[in-house]
Amino acid sequence: MSRRKIVAGNWKMNMTPTEAVKLIDTLKPLVASDDVDVVFCVPAIDIIPAVEAVKGTNIAIGAENLYFEDKGAFTGEISADMLLDAGVKYVIIGHSERREYFAETDETVNKKVLKAIEKGLTPIVCCGETLTQREQGITIDWIRQQMKIAFLNVSAADAAKCVIAYEPIWAIGTGKTATSDQAEEVCKAIRDLMREIYDDATAEAIRIQYGGSVNGGNAAELFAKPDIDGGLVGGASLKEEFGDIIAGSTCC
Ligand code: 13P
Repeated sequence: MSRRKIVAGNWKMNMTPTEAVKLIDTLKPLVASDDVDVVFCVPAIDIIPAVEAVKGTNIAIGAENLYFEDKGAFTGEISADMLLDAGVKYVIIGHSERREYFAETDETVNKKVLKAIEKGLTPIVCCGETLTQREQGITIDWIRQQMKIAFLNVSAADAAKCVIAYEPIWAIGTGKTATSDQAEEVCKAIRDLMREIYDDATAEAIRIQYGGSVNGGNAAELFAKPDIDGGLVGGASLKEEFGDIIAGSTCC
């Protein structure tokens, strides 16, 4: 079956609200496409102006995180209901930067995935290995473990609607992209795991992105692989080059 491609920008901790609106105005015409889902995942404080700025375009707004409780004494956190009310459709969960700097674990990732699904947000669930893990030959084992826990108690019907992002940590922000074969190998392994946990239909429906130094020059080759359904893009999503990446996702 052919899955619709999805390309998401992860702005990370970049862009003030004023800058966000300016960037969206610049990128709007460059990312216009009927053939690919385009998402801008923006810092929490940019969400409200960003939702306003993308009105009438094909761009959906995503968040970079959420908290798994509904409400209450959790200073500094943001709930799924808050995101939904602001117009958010997608939420990145378990990015390696959150795991490394903010003590995110496979268990909290699972709780967040369940909460996002319960509320009707589409999670972009991240996984990825370190360079040491790759050199030790345990990449696939590691990714399987991360994804098995992330999808604990998620039904097949809900899993089919999720997005998974495979982002090798050694490729993030380094300019060192995984080769398209390396990326495909892991994305295929993730799809095989989904087939193992669920069934063929679920595995074929779920969209799996590659992330890690995706740019205007390498996107088309990566996204042409059979198990890579688009990308999660950091640095290049803040530039006009993001338009070339969207174009690259529609070529094949
Ligand atoms: P870069 O595209 O800057 O390598 O970042 C990738 C990433 O972490 C997206 O979530």
